[in-house]
Amino acid sequence: MKRTLLVTGIASAMFANAAFAGACDVNVEATAAMAFNVKEIAVPKTCKEITLNLKNAGTMSKSVMGHNVVISKTADMQAVISDGMTAGLANQYVKPKDARVIGYTNVIGGGESTSAKIKLSNVKASESYSFFCSFPGHGAVMKGVFKLI
Ligand code: CO
Repeated sequence: MKRTLLVTGIASAMFANAAFAGACDVNVEATAAMAFNVKEIAVPKTCKEITLNLKNAGTMSKSVMGHNVVISKTADMQAVISDGMTAGLANQYVKPKDARVIGYTNVIGGGESTSAKIKLSNVKASESYSFFCSFPGHGAVMKGVFKLI
């Protein structure tokens, strides 16, 4: 009973203040079927930075079926993926210092998890952004909408 009351109290505090750390945490899972478990990531405008947590629920190594999460303007997505392929796994399939990239996680293999802090200072509510996996060939299906709400 006490446990239930405590959890409710924390939830209320989160809704009362979107800047509370939990509201700016984003959890994404890459499934064993080469897909993300979410089609949209919507982040409160009050978040200056998000913590993006990625879990790979698959079983294969990162060189065979690795996954990451990259965020860019939707208009830049194909070019970011293309340059990421050239950059290779050693660079997490992201061109080093790519100014078009808002943020990204490392590439992880099955059973692994990773986390990245991503600053949102250049993200505008009026722009269209996407999140995607930049592992070669994955971006066509492993993608979704990223937006501020
Ligand atoms: Co992938």
